[in-house]
Amino acid sequence: MPTKRVQLGLVLLYSGLLTAMSSSAYGADDKIIKKGQQLYNQNCSVCHQADAIGKPGFAPSLTNPELLSISSDKFFEGTIRDGRVGTGMPPFSHLGRKNIKAIVAFLKSHAKLPNRSKEVAAQPDSHGDERLGKQWFDDICSTCHGENGDGYAAGSTGTAIGKAGFQSKVSDGFIRETIKHGRSNTRMLGFSDSTGLANLSDQEIDDVISYMRTLVK
Ligand code: HEC
Ligand code: HEC
Repeated sequence: MPTKRVQLGLVLLYSGLLTAMSSSAYGADDKIIKKGQQLYNQNCSVCHQADAIGKPGFAPSLTNPELLSISSDKFFEGTIRDGRVGTGMPPFSHLGRKNIKAIVAFLKSHAKLPNRSKEVAAQPDSHGDERLGKQWFDDICSTCHGENGDGYAAGSTGTAIGKAGFQSKVSDGFIRETIKHGRSNTRMLGFSDSTGLANLSDQEIDDVISYMRTLVK
């Protein structure tokens, strides 16, 4: 009888050691990321695709380096919670805060560029000329984002940048950086250098932002 008890004790001790070892080799963060990946696969991959690379004209990339670099956790969490009214992006508030944070941790684990979200959010608001901005917008941006920034609904590849779902969650700095540097491996090219579709000055970019802000009623 006593030997059995010793054996049982050893088994318990051994399994305890195993658990201790596995939890130290596998930190809490990794667990959250793994959970986020599961939730992503269940709720998001149907539109944003496996690996979150997106699909032109259907859903944007969520692992794009430039997007991850300028996005705050708050932007991601808010967008996932509220969705974007009038677009294909549904709200996911029913998942709860903790699960949404896990999905964001999973998405952010793909980051390749430094996190610039604080600096970008702190940039000054645009002081542009809406009328000049409208000309640029109609000539260039509307071809992909739709005449009023209606996005995919207008039958093209750019997202709904004229709608409240996007605009209420981003700073002028976020929009400015996206226009300047674009998003690699998507059709959104940067507009601040000669490789882009047009070479816009900082002032012209601010004109465009000021016009965009008038699109949300
Ligand atoms: C039914 C399709 C669909 C599903 C499911 C979906 N999305 Fe989206 N998502 C979209 C579309 C479409 C957009 C772009 C909306 C627009 O035009 O502004 C979008 C935009 C986004 C954006 C903004 C990206 C950017 O470039 O600014 C984030 C973040 C996002 N989705 C996260 C998620 C997450 C996380 C899930 C799962 C919890 C999810 N989405 C599920 C269709 C979907
Ligand atoms: C050739 C097509 C094209 C043109 C022209 C274009 N865009 Fe885009 N834009 C896109 C695509 C595609 C995306 C989404 C990329 C992705 O999948 O992540 C995007 C994303 C954006 C975003 C981020 C939106 C979001 O949901 O996070 C902003 C802001 C933006 N574009 C502004 C502009 C402005 C302003 C112009 C004009 C100066 C412009 N774009 C011209 C295709 C274009």
